[in-house]
Amino acid sequence: MSSTTDASAGRAQITARTLRTDRWWLPPLANFVGLTAWVVYATVRAFVQDDYFVPEYNYLTPFYSPCVSYGCDPHASHFGQFLPDVWWLPYAAVSLPFLLLFRLTCYYYRKAYYRSFWLSPPACAVAEPHKSYTGETRFPLLGQNLHRYFFYIAGIISLINTYDAFYAFVRSDGSFGFGLGNVILLVNVVLLWAYTISCHSCRSIIGGRLNHFSKHPLRYRMWVYVSKLNARHMQLAWTTLATLAVTDFYIMAVAAGWIPDLRIIN
Ligand code: FES
Repeated sequence: MSSTTDASAGRAQITARTLRTDRWWLPPLANFVGLTAWVVYATVRAFVQDDYFVPEYNYLTPFYSPCVSYGCDPHASHFGQFLPDVWWLPYAAVSLPFLLLFRLTCYYYRKAYYRSFWLSPPACAVAEPHKSYTGETRFPLLGQNLHRYFFYIAGIISLINTYDAFYAFVRSDGSFGFGLGNVILLVNVVLLWAYTISCHSCRSIIGGRLNHFSKHPLRYRMWVYVSKLNARHMQLAWTTLATLAVTDFYIMAVAAGWIPDLRIIN
C-alpha cells in the first residue's frame, strides 16, 4: 500500500543538479580553503619541534602544551617529560589528538566538512554526488557520538592552556612581566573557553535531563548563559582557529628572534 510517507521519501525528480541561482558554492569553497590552510599550518607546526617556547618570558605555544616529550625544553615541561623524543611524535602528543577529535566531532565542523569536503550535500537544495546515504549510523561516523567525551577532555586541556597563559606572567628570573605575548595568550585562552563552553554537548550536559527548570535555578541560569554562547558557536569555532594560529605564530616569531616581544612591564 502506498502512503504519503512512501511518496515523499525520495528526492524530487529533476534533472538539474540544483535550481538555486545564488552563489551557493561560495560557503563550502571558503570552508574548504580555510580548513585546509589551517590543517596544513597546524600539522607543520606540530611536527617542526622548534621555536615553540620563549624561555625568557615563559611563552609556550598551545600547539606544544603540555610539552611532555624528552625533547622539550625542561622549562616548558610543567607536567613532566615521558614521551620519547622522535620526529614523528609531536611534543604535545597527549593533547593534540584529543583536540583534533574534539573539533572533528564538533556539530559545527561536521556540517562544515560534510558540505565542503564530502559535498554531502554541498548546500541546501543542491544534490550530492553520492548514491546512498547512511548518515552517522555506521562506523566510522558512528564515532561522532563520542563528542561528549572529547568535550570533557578538551575542558581539561583548556585548564592547562589557562595555566600556561598565567604562568607566562612570570619571567625566567621569577619576576613579574607583561608583554604583547601575554595579551595574545590571554585572549586566546578566553576565546578557547568560550568555544568549549558554547559546545552543544556542554549545553545538553548543563540543561539536559531536567523536567523542571524551576527546581534547578542555578542550572537554568548556566543553561541560559551557555545557550547564548551556543548561538555563536560557528563564529567561535572560526575565531579560535584564528587565535590559535596567531598565538602560535607570534610565539614562533619571538622564539626564532624574528621580532622582539613588545614589553609593557619588564
Ligand atoms: Fe562544537 Fe561541541 S558542538 S565543540
